[in-house]
Amino acid sequence: MTTPAPTGEAVIKIRGITRTYGTGEVALQVLKGVDLDIHPGEVVALVGPSGSGKSTLLNTIGCLDRPTTGTYHLDGHDVSQLSRAGQAHMRLHFLGFVFQSVYLIGELSAIENVMLPMSYAGVPLAERRKRAVELLGRVGLDQRMDHRPNQLSGGQRQRVAIARALSMKPRVLLADEPTGALDSKTGEEVLALLYELHAETRLTMVIVTHDPRIAASTPRTVHLKDGLIHQDERRSVPHVA
Ligand SMILES: Nc1ncnc2c1ncn2[C@@H]1O[C@H](COP(=O)(O)OP(=O)(O)OP(=O)(O)O)[C@@H](O)[C@H]1O
Ligand SMILES: [Mg+2]
Repeated sequence: MTTPAPTGEAVIKIRGITRTYGTGEVALQVLKGVDLDIHPGEVVALVGPSGSGKSTLLNTIGCLDRPTTGTYHLDGHDVSQLSRAGQAHMRLHFLGFVFQSVYLIGELSAIENVMLPMSYAGVPLAERRKRAVELLGRVGLDQRMDHRPNQLSGGQRQRVAIARALSMKPRVLLADEPTGALDSKTGEEVLALLYELHAETRLTMVIVTHDPRIAASTPRTVHLKDGLIHQDERRSVPHVA
């Protein structure tokens, strides 16, 4: 049984996106014309062979990169050709990242890391602290708030990263291999946490993964191959309602 495609306004609306790295003879077209709609509350796994363009597409969705051609609307805003400052604004206010390249800051404690995006956004200190305490409690780290990243396990660090990603109440959570660096049990716990958070908040999530268990556990899996979507699969799954 498959779940029908949701109707209504997409939170992520991508049309004909290409991305070419370099110019002239060394130009490499990595995305070759991607169309993708993701609706509020969807959980989507993005899979495909190494080099197929998954991270490039996720970076585009995350306003960390710009498409070479094509359009991208995030929550109704045309973000295809935003300035760096405009991209940073969208990242801060619309998106949460659980990326291996978006590191926790080593000199800051868990709670300070979670408070950081809120301080960029000018959230008052008392509110920052309150939200960070709630979020770290929610991800099961109430006893570890003052630990720095190197005093935490890999799974605990990933949970801090999830709390930080949620601190600005994003419209969309983006994860690039969120369990990639974890052993299978810890990876399952992190995934279960993401699904619990989804059940509570109906947050839209896009997860790039090589892990077949993750890809099989989401209601929708988008397969990229050589810079194009070659399969867009929907299924009923028990975990994510
Ligand atoms: N900044 C860059 N400059 C030039 N080429 C790049 C750049 N970033 C990525 N590429 C190339 O684009 C292609 C797609 O890379 P991308 O990182 O999107 O793949 P991926 O699907 O995420 O792969 P993996 O599963 O290995 O993470 C690769 O061939 C890569 O070498
Ligand atoms: Mg990648």
